[in-house]
Amino acid sequence: MISRSPNFIEDMDHIMITEEQIQNRIVELADKINLDYQDLNTEKPVLVIGMLTGAFTFTADLVRHLNFHISVDFISASSYGASTVSTGSVVIKKDVGDITGRHILLVEDIIDSGISMKHILALLGTRNPASIRLCALLSKPDRRVTPIKIDYLGFTIKDEFVVGYGLDFAGRYRALPYIGVLKPELYN
Ligand code: IMP
Ligand code: MG
Repeated sequence: MISRSPNFIEDMDHIMITEEQIQNRIVELADKINLDYQDLNTEKPVLVIGMLTGAFTFTADLVRHLNFHISVDFISASSYGASTVSTGSVVIKKDVGDITGRHILLVEDIIDSGISMKHILALLGTRNPASIRLCALLSKPDRRVTPIKIDYLGFTIKDEFVVGYGLDFAGRYRALPYIGVLKPELYN
């Protein structure tokens, strides 16, 4: 597959995960998800909730490999005071509609400290969904300050700041088809 996205390769120190590796892994994740949801007895389609903005690309690619009925929605949340678990809280800028009785597949770009996801899961949990499962493309376990159960995980990565495939640095690089690490001088 030849990508036509701008790739800004000259800005990268190195590519961590190639476009091909990402796309292959998404097919593997979708295979597992399709198996797990195949016998689900539910009136309404499974609700896939993508976390804006970082998970927009991953959500779009993942849902195209799912073989059961879904609906798609997005949550936009910003976290404040994310440096400590006790003060970390999340402000919802765009919410989903009624999720009562719905099976939820939450899709996130990266679980870093885990604080944002902890708050989102707690919030959604108060709204009586039938189930919530989490699918994350990336996880940085070395940075975790609160445990998060990731049902479907793409890649475990070391503690390096990454961009691309939805992830940004100062709003840039989200459209890259791969995940990379910027040259150190570009982070300053
Ligand atoms: P957490 O609450 O620390 O887990 O924050 C996770 C959020 O921080 C992610 O949804 C991303 O938006 C952002 N983030 C964490 N690590 C990175 C990274 O390496 N690159 C870009 N964004 C990141
Ligand atoms: Mg995010």
